[in-house]
Amino acid sequence: MDTVIRNARIYTHRDTGVPLRGDAAVDLTVYDPGAMVLRNGLVHWIGPENELLAAGGTSVGSGSTDPDGSVTIDLGGRAVIPGFVDPHTHLCFAATRENEFRMRLGGADYMQIHREGGGIMSSVRSLRAASREDLLDRTLLGLRRSLSFGVTTVEVKTGYGLSTEAELRQLEVIAEAAGRVPQDVVPTFLGAHSIPQEYRDRRDEFVNLVLEEMLPAAAETGIPRYCDVFTEEGVFSVAESERILTRGRELGMELKAHVDEIQNLGGAAMAARLGCVSAEHLIAADDQGLEAMAESGTIAIVLPGTSFSLRKPYARARRMIELGVPLALATDCNPGSCYTESIPFIVTLAVMQMGVPLETALAAVTVNAAYSIGMADRVGTLEPGKQADFLVLEGSSPAIIPYHAGVNPVEAVYKRGAPVL
Ligand code: NIG
Ligand code: FE
Repeated sequence: MDTVIRNARIYTHRDTGVPLRGDAAVDLTVYDPGAMVLRNGLVHWIGPENELLAAGGTSVGSGSTDPDGSVTIDLGGRAVIPGFVDPHTHLCFAATRENEFRMRLGGADYMQIHREGGGIMSSVRSLRAASREDLLDRTLLGLRRSLSFGVTTVEVKTGYGLSTEAELRQLEVIAEAAGRVPQDVVPTFLGAHSIPQEYRDRRDEFVNLVLEEMLPAAAETGIPRYCDVFTEEGVFSVAESERILTRGRELGMELKAHVDEIQNLGGAAMAARLGCVSAEHLIAADDQGLEAMAESGTIAIVLPGTSFSLRKPYARARRMIELGVPLALATDCNPGSCYTESIPFIVTLAVMQMGVPLETALAAVTVNAAYSIGMADRVGTLEPGKQADFLVLEGSSPAIIPYHAGVNPVEAVYKRGAPVL
């Protein structure tokens, strides 16, 4: 049975087979008034409404059932956009770290808290102590919140276990949670997220553990699609990161890396050199690193919520666009550096604080985000053959997102053609 969506203002990028760069990301198609025919969870047809009417494809009712059994939904002129893709989250965690946030409000530094054994280690302790059920419940809470902000596809990383057993448990919880929510969930293995306390004075041993035991065990589960690493001063060096990523690739995973977040270690260039699908954060990345990314086609996943929450500068997104680096945006949702599930908030920051054009920001949370997690064949644009994952927004255009700032503009969420919110 078909569902016909009509009287909508539909905004979508077109998938050209590669992530959109520069001006291509500004090129947003608008059907006003537009219509879509949904069939078997996919977009069967999309275009101007008058073309559909001319073809006799719909009656002009609202919520009506046509003689042929299809259902027509009149959206009253509201804006429709593809479901958001959040390509970088750590939302599988056991407990928040509100106390650390209060310390940071009082002037404490994020990396100083990390060095003193808080930060990521604090999340490692709470995850290791949590029961599987509690971790699952907390993860489902995050995923449901994310859905409420229009996220229909989401990447989730491990990295709060940091032992083989706890990392595997985290992977399994992510996989189980994925089966219980409407979203498509893409799991990433981030066993090299930090050196755990018990290995503080034996960092080489921890790197070896990641290489020899954790990565092979993670690959064995068949769950993670990506291998990620936190390349940063005081965490993993470029040389260590290269070894870890190379091993991940040998074991069948594609690569991502947290790079140049606080210090510029040349992480962007490393990500480009290794052919990483994406490099994330990039606040401190220099032109040389960005040029290398443009050359290799490595997607920049920029995380403005993290800059906001850490009171750090924003990554140079306009420079990335100028240099032809494909831009994606994500929440980085985690209990430490950025606790938000809201992609609308991220779009607002990108547009208002970073000078990213609205159309480019939209591409960055839909089609380019989909490319950055290997999902562009299915999601990220509204085109025939893609999943019918879309959002109905308050208002008549995506400008409502930064305009009605701080308020959730998502009125309805459709996943594979069915309303899920
Ligand atoms: O992407 N930078 C490293 N990892 C996370 C933060 C993790 C945490 O503080 O718990 C990030 O910001
Ligand atoms: Fe992160």
